[in-house]
Amino acid sequence: MTELNAAATEVELEIQDLSHDGRGIGRLDGRVVFVDGALPGDRVAARLLPQRRRQLHADLRRILQPSPQRRRAPCILADHCGGCSLQPFTDEGQQQWKQRSLEQSLQRIAGLNPEVRPLLSSDRPLGYRNRAVIPLERGEDGHLKAGYYRRGSHRIVNMNRCPVLDPRIDRLIAPLKRDLETSDWPVDRHGLTEGGLKHLALRVGHHTGEVLITLIASHQEFEGLTAMAESWLERWPEVVGVSLNLQPRPTNQLFGRNTLTLAGRGWLSETFAGLDYRIGADTFFQVHTTQAERLVPLLLQGLAPAQDQTTSPDQGNSSAQGPNPVSPSGSGLVLDAFCGIGTFSLPLAAAGWTVHGIEQHAPAVELARLNAEGNDLSDRATFETSTVAIALPALLDSAEALLLDPPRKGLEALVLAAILACPPRRLLYLSCDPATLSRDLGLLCAEVYTTRSVQPIDFFPNTSHIEALAVLDRRD
Ligand SMILES: C[S@@+](CC[C@H](N)C(=O)[O-])C[C@H]1O[C@@H](n2cnc3c(N)ncnc32)[C@H](O)[C@@H]1O
Repeated sequence: MTELNAAATEVELEIQDLSHDGRGIGRLDGRVVFVDGALPGDRVAARLLPQRRRQLHADLRRILQPSPQRRRAPCILADHCGGCSLQPFTDEGQQQWKQRSLEQSLQRIAGLNPEVRPLLSSDRPLGYRNRAVIPLERGEDGHLKAGYYRRGSHRIVNMNRCPVLDPRIDRLIAPLKRDLETSDWPVDRHGLTEGGLKHLALRVGHHTGEVLITLIASHQEFEGLTAMAESWLERWPEVVGVSLNLQPRPTNQLFGRNTLTLAGRGWLSETFAGLDYRIGADTFFQVHTTQAERLVPLLLQGLAPAQDQTTSPDQGNSSAQGPNPVSPSGSGLVLDAFCGIGTFSLPLAAAGWTVHGIEQHAPAVELARLNAEGNDLSDRATFETSTVAIALPALLDSAEALLLDPPRKGLEALVLAAILACPPRRLLYLSCDPATLSRDLGLLCAEVYTTRSVQPIDFFPNTSHIEALAVLDRRD
């Protein structure tokens, strides 16, 4: 029961749901109130904040009655750090919410009620992230701070450990911070002064254990930088390369165009779904390797005609280490739009499909080609550097199927129009944002496609991000 407190701004709220970005949702006199840090099932005391864009927000003061799905957060910084908002939610609570949230989004935004399969949960809810890009800052006392932003701000919550990171990169944060602090190099994330270091990026190959360290900075004039990079390579045998990425502009884009290799190499080797890959310091790669591998058999099943679905997808909680041996093989052309370094193109090519990947990031395309070559798949996996909007229209006519894996903002209007004008028989849409997935499926399924299935898969445990694969069949 909701009631206004006599102090006028402090209210009691029953939290009923979570917003897409993980804030608790309560109701006050019928109006939605967002409460950071509150979970469904909590009864809380919260202080109302000034309205923002006609929305009500409140500051969590006390938990009066905790949700049965509340737990002690695994990270000691969980109350402050904006990195993972669902830490105090039990794994089961998070999974139920993700499932429900995806279903509601498809229904509310697109009016669709497709078969949403049970979420594939992760057997590794902590220690799973193979990559971190950590903002740096020098505090007023001169000490170096490294950490993610406090919720709703650009203030860093200083940290030495992050339990969602793969322990092989987590353990490097504190010693690297110490070295950067003693180096006395300028730190200037916002480009307010003469420039300097901005971010520390770490990446590990889940199966190989190889590590890349990358500093992102506005310039390259740091005295003793190469010697420092070489010392890191000597000190940690798993570190195969140290790079400097130059991002001179004050922008939200973390990486700039140029990456210089300071020591070792600019890429790490990894295996994925049984194939060999090179991953760059600044190229995209799925952050939860074993969960991403579980998608491969689902993609292959999605490419097969609906009537050929002889096997049900793996819905257990253990992660597959490679392509499912009973996955159907195929032939014909699959377009892999937003293909990155060929993460999914190559397993599809290995299963017999001819794959053509489209990707705008030139270094990723270069690696995709090398990766195809390294796995003897160049004859069946080709790649081009282009935006999807430019390259796709001319290719759709000859394609049997289209795999889409766009960034969070989903598909541009031009891309949607091209697909609707010349729709391939099957469409596989991998998304990390239920809202844009629902918006795009609403348009694709209005007349041209039907949704065969939607499979949520937990790529980002302890955060509010939701990944899902939708398989669509053209109505003939
Ligand atoms: C979510 S990632 C997926 C990458 C790949 N499918 C994978 O799983 O590793 C999206 C990719 O699309 C690329 N990208 C973003 N916008 C693009 C556009 N308009 N045209 C082509 N590629 C784009 C990004 O560089 C990034 O590599």
